[in-house]
Amino acid sequence: MAVPAFRRADFLMALAYATDLATGHSRDFALRSCVLAMRFADLLGVDVEQRRSVYHQALLRYVGCNADTHLLASAFGDEIALRQELQHIDMGDKSAIGATILRALTRTFADLPPDQLSKAIEQGMAEAMNVSVPILAGHCEVAQRIAERIGLSAEIRENLGQLYERWDGKGLPQGIAGEAVKFPVRLVTLAQDAVVHAETHGVPAMIAVIGKRRGGAYEPELADRFLAHAEALMQGLDQPVDRKTILALEPLPHAVLDEAASEEAYVAIADMIDMRMPFTFGHSRAVAALADLAGKHLGLPATDIRELRWAAYTHDIGELAVPVSTWMRAGPLSIREIDAAHLHPYHGERALASLGGEGKPVAAIVLRHHERLDGSGYHRYAKAPDLSPAARILAAAEAFQTAREARPHRPALSDTAAAAKLRSAVRAGKLCPEATEAVLACAGQSARRDTSERLAGLTPREIEVLRLIAAGQTAKEAARQLEIAPKTADNHIQSLYAKIGVKTRAAAALYALERGLVQHGMLAA
Ligand SMILES: [Fe+2]
Repeated sequence: MAVPAFRRADFLMALAYATDLATGHSRDFALRSCVLAMRFADLLGVDVEQRRSVYHQALLRYVGCNADTHLLASAFGDEIALRQELQHIDMGDKSAIGATILRALTRTFADLPPDQLSKAIEQGMAEAMNVSVPILAGHCEVAQRIAERIGLSAEIRENLGQLYERWDGKGLPQGIAGEAVKFPVRLVTLAQDAVVHAETHGVPAMIAVIGKRRGGAYEPELADRFLAHAEALMQGLDQPVDRKTILALEPLPHAVLDEAASEEAYVAIADMIDMRMPFTFGHSRAVAALADLAGKHLGLPATDIRELRWAAYTHDIGELAVPVSTWMRAGPLSIREIDAAHLHPYHGERALASLGGEGKPVAAIVLRHHERLDGSGYHRYAKAPDLSPAARILAAAEAFQTAREARPHRPALSDTAAAAKLRSAVRAGKLCPEATEAVLACAGQSARRDTSERLAGLTPREIEVLRLIAAGQTAKEAARQLEIAPKTADNHIQSLYAKIGVKTRAAAALYALERGLVQHGMLAA
């Protein structure tokens, strides 16, 4: 069984896409800043180890900033809007920070009567730093832990721990100054601010801002060198950056991950996604565990199970585009919020495009995780023929796991109630019966009696063979799909025929149809 060979940089780009969404940066922000930072590093003639540090700092600077986002959203409302505003101000300027926080609080409490509004704002302003400092310190530590889990060096991790530090010592969490702030941190902070300001206000305005903050946020000598070459360094950076450019920029030797390291990278992404809100903590791991078991239960080929599990780890990566303040609200979502929420599978596919051709099957499953057999899902309104067994299993596993987790607008359902909810969706033609029963069986919610009766005596492999031949596949084709020898497939078919009392493929197909094994086009994909 061929194992996909991922570059570690593939995962860095997926993480960068996700953090760009979560922090309100524009498309390819981290990638564009990586290109700029590497150009600048080359101009300065730094050695390969410094280049490696710059490369990783640019791609991963904000990778921990998803932690504790619920606290940020509770205090300041729409945290993505707040983060967008903060990108533009000088974080050493207390009055600019105060004005930005004041705007956020005014937006958040806009519905309060005037007397309560001023009190809420006053209280929010008083607590702003107490709330923010531990959160920002947490971002640094989480970034370091994620970096460790994907195998990055101690030096790169140390840089990530300084992501909010500044030349003048007015940064966080330690307030270190000057050369105590590592060189890659100083360089990438300048490069990322340059990208933000250039894309919003143009290169001349960006040059003015960098000059103004020289000696404050930025090391004077570094700012001078940058400003002397700013126009050339910024060439083409208003355009999207393709994956190959970032892969080519990685200093040698390129890090390639084996299967175990790839698995760990997917799990790291899962945790990064889920850590933004307490009620999603562990969600992706739980969905992946269920989906993996259900895939095995249904006898899916090992390659399909691996892709299914990796898709389950990353299925909600696109959710980072939606502010946590939206997910946390107990009331109904507005039409605009529903639209944004429904696009998260689209963003998920885009994020996983960073994984290149090897990641395509995973991205295809992620894209479909909220689709339903009858076309009532989102966001493409795909129907049964477009939904593979893996996509159906992920849809069922996600629905079950979500139902048994609490959300701000509803309590958690018991496992029994969650199972009933899924079976109701099966009856309505939305979820695949086989995939759903497999998920429920693996979650300890034993299948309904009629399901176990209709499958009585068949092994999971025989059920899978039955599905395939009922869908019109020959024994040879079924053998190829299941990655077994044709002779083995023949043996399964003969044993299956004997058990269900048929002699022909057509009769076996009819048997499968009668028992609902092929309803909703489970096998059409
Ligand atoms: Fe989702």
